[in-house]
Amino acid sequence: MKIIEIEGGKKLTGTIRISGAKNATVALIPAAILTDEEATICNVPEITDTEALCDILELLKVKVNRSTESVVINPSEMENVEITEPYSKKLRASYYFMGALLGKYKKAVMYFPGGCSIGERPIDLHLKGFEALGAKVTTEKNKYTVEAEELKGANIYLDIASVGATINIMLAAVKAKGITVIDNAAKEPEIVNVATFLNNMGAKITGAGTSTIKIEGVEKLHKCFHEVIPDRIEAGTYIIIGALCGEMLKIDNVIPEHIDPLLSKLEEIGVNFEVGRDHITVLESGNDLKSTTVKTAVFPGFPTDLQQPFTVLLTQANGMSRVIETIWENRFMHIPYLNQLGSRIVVKNQTAEIVGPTKLTATSVAATDLRAGAAMVAAALIAEGKTKIANAEHILRGYEQIVEKLVSVGARIELKEI
Ligand code: EPU
Repeated sequence: MKIIEIEGGKKLTGTIRISGAKNATVALIPAAILTDEEATICNVPEITDTEALCDILELLKVKVNRSTESVVINPSEMENVEITEPYSKKLRASYYFMGALLGKYKKAVMYFPGGCSIGERPIDLHLKGFEALGAKVTTEKNKYTVEAEELKGANIYLDIASVGATINIMLAAVKAKGITVIDNAAKEPEIVNVATFLNNMGAKITGAGTSTIKIEGVEKLHKCFHEVIPDRIEAGTYIIIGALCGEMLKIDNVIPEHIDPLLSKLEEIGVNFEVGRDHITVLESGNDLKSTTVKTAVFPGFPTDLQQPFTVLLTQANGMSRVIETIWENRFMHIPYLNQLGSRIVVKNQTAEIVGPTKLTATSVAATDLRAGAAMVAAALIAEGKTKIANAEHILRGYEQIVEKLVSVGARIELKEI
């Protein structure tokens, strides 16, 4: 098991550079198999989710050449074999191979995906979308076979604006015959990044970033070069850390519009920061942060993926704050650990009520999922004494070089294997 140890109480100064977006990368890598030619993707974060997807590519006999920050994917000799359970289960985003393989070969065989335990996480909308395109879905326990004689464009209305279903249907539809329209599509920046990549390969997708996406099927996709957008959740996490213990902490390589909902909340509660063209500088904030209410929502609402680190900041605000989680049923697993560190938080249904400010004191905690782990890191950085965070593997799934980045701005943090 990996453990992160943090000696809290240090002020952080300097620059942290944000890596490529995890939730774009994890769709771009499977999307690359839709061509028979070479795709080069740069600004790819070195996180374990990327490694897990490259392992699946190798299982499918796709040539993968990984260098610092870029990956070259060549599927010219690929084989459409079953993605076995251990590979499917390594991460959530293995499910993007379902859409991509269906689009390319009209057949995909894989198992229910893994990922953070933050709720039930069904994939019914993905499967309904594939069926609307003409595929037959057979489920045997947790094994899925999705097959079609021919994929035909269709009008698909998503009951929920799901990120995964929007991208997966796009992947299957790019090579379908005719026009597919996805209504109530998710609008996250990662979806725009994936649509741009597919269009660079010759797909005809319009409307990505709005709630109606139109995909005109094409016969063939070709080689391309693509850059992953900066990770807005990683950026938001470090900005929150800056608000907790920064002293001129510059977060570089950021698209500020992607984190507007966070920035407006930070302004409301009194965090001191400056917004540049591609960076945010967090100045030292006083002890007079105000409490607030925040409700998670699909983009451009407040991202659920920042809710857990933001809760830590609210433990330092004066009065009662509320965090209302609307996307996932089980995203408050960090709360008992925060309370062990000294916070006063009560969870009622899907709302966390936080009374602040509270002094945090180090103890042993655990990362129950990726963003809960990020919340533990944020809390440990201001806790008095040495905090040990168990199950740090969860954190490494989504934050590239988190230990090195924090050390470079003055944190006392170490990664250990026990
Ligand atoms: N949903 C269904 N049926 C479906 C698909 C989704 O009911 O077929 C529900 C989900 O249960 C959830 C809601 O719809 O309640 C939204 O789920 P969505 O499909 O949008 O989420 P996802 O694609 O599984 C991605 C990110 C998550 C992020 C959410 C919401 C990836 C790999 N994951 O998940 O990221 O929280 O969108 O923005 O892109 C993370 O990075 O820590 C993370 C969990």
